[in-house]
Amino acid sequence: MRRLNVELADRRYPILIGKGLLTQSGALEAYLHGKRAAVISNQTVAPLYLDRLAGTLQKVGAGVTPIILPDGEIHKTWESLNAIYDALLAARCDRGTTVIALGGGVIGDLAGFAAATYQRGVPFIQMPTTLLAQVDSSVGGKTGINHPRGKNMIGAFWQPRLVLADTDTLATLPSRELSAGLAEVIKYGLIRDPRFLEWLEANIEGLVNRDGELLAYAIERSCANKAEIVVADEFETAREGGRALLNLGHTFGHAIEAGLGYGTWLHGEAVAAGTMVAVELSHRLGWLSTADVDRVRELLRRAGLPVRAPQLGTERYFELMAHDKKVVDGQLRLVLLKALGEGVTWAAAPRETIAEAIAACCHE
Ligand code: NAD
Ligand code: GLY
Repeated sequence: MRRLNVELADRRYPILIGKGLLTQSGALEAYLHGKRAAVISNQTVAPLYLDRLAGTLQKVGAGVTPIILPDGEIHKTWESLNAIYDALLAARCDRGTTVIALGGGVIGDLAGFAAATYQRGVPFIQMPTTLLAQVDSSVGGKTGINHPRGKNMIGAFWQPRLVLADTDTLATLPSRELSAGLAEVIKYGLIRDPRFLEWLEANIEGLVNRDGELLAYAIERSCANKAEIVVADEFETAREGGRALLNLGHTFGHAIEAGLGYGTWLHGEAVAAGTMVAVELSHRLGWLSTADVDRVRELLRRAGLPVRAPQLGTERYFELMAHDKKVVDGQLRLVLLKALGEGVTWAAAPRETIAEAIAACCHE
């Protein structure tokens, strides 16, 4: 088992990564608050892994209230959140109940927001089962739901007490979802970890083929990078850089997701194409060479990810990006690369250069 910590003073918590962790009672016993757990999962993940986890919880003497939601980003809504509150109240869950998220980022974000708000906040544990959730969404305490007018518009910061990533769960993950998670893994290399980027270039086929040791290492390096970023800028208030760097490719990516209709492309796929736009723009600003651009494109392609953005029309991209949370005081603050392994937040890119970069990355 690999272990690292998110060093948030009095809210410090461990991230455990390894095979078979859902069946190991030791970690759970140490971090379970009280003798009651509400396990929030969905109709895809629960049949695969809920029994395994419930058995372990029962072994440590905890009562289990399962709450099973329909699967999908379209259910990351107020209605699902309300269904969680209803189930917690019906089961008479009190503040001694620990909320456990068993699933991907959708379940993690929903369960975390429920934990942040139920009875003004109850303890929370993340058990991520997608690669994206194991390397990104389960760490750092961002929780929330979508609003019809925008993704992740309602939410709270609520740190978990424990993140437990059982790498065995990745065996059942569809390949497209695995690749989508790799987009976020590659992000860490690009924004701050050039040695990890080189390691990824050497091992990407092994990751795509689900080599357990390689995946565990990639998850550990990703979480170590994310933990450092979160500790330095928990609430994303840094004027430059900071937690916002995690949004490399996301402003363009969100525009792709919204422009095509949510669910057409996976989040990680849109982030990959969005990363190519950011890389192309960084090249046009004189920071990256054409060889750098080719290097990133090749790595994303080998990870099974799209490297061309859909042809939505440049004006439509600007319209969609104007709704992004990264617009501050009407200014679009993009994450770009000064070099491979060195991300920056940048609000001074000329509109016409952004338009050229988008056009250069779109399908003919
Ligand atoms: P997801 O939760 O929708 O999971 C993807 C699919 O895989 C779903 O159908 C799910 O049921 C299925 N699945 C999950 N685990 C499985 C397994 N082990 N075997 C088989 N199928 C499995 O999507 P995701 O990519 O994990 O997360 C995306 C969400 O995460 C978005 O809502 C995004 O906004 C959010 N997110 C949050 C943060 C954060 O910091 N809080 C960061 C990044 C993304
Ligand atoms: N995934 C973005 C963040 O956690 O800040």
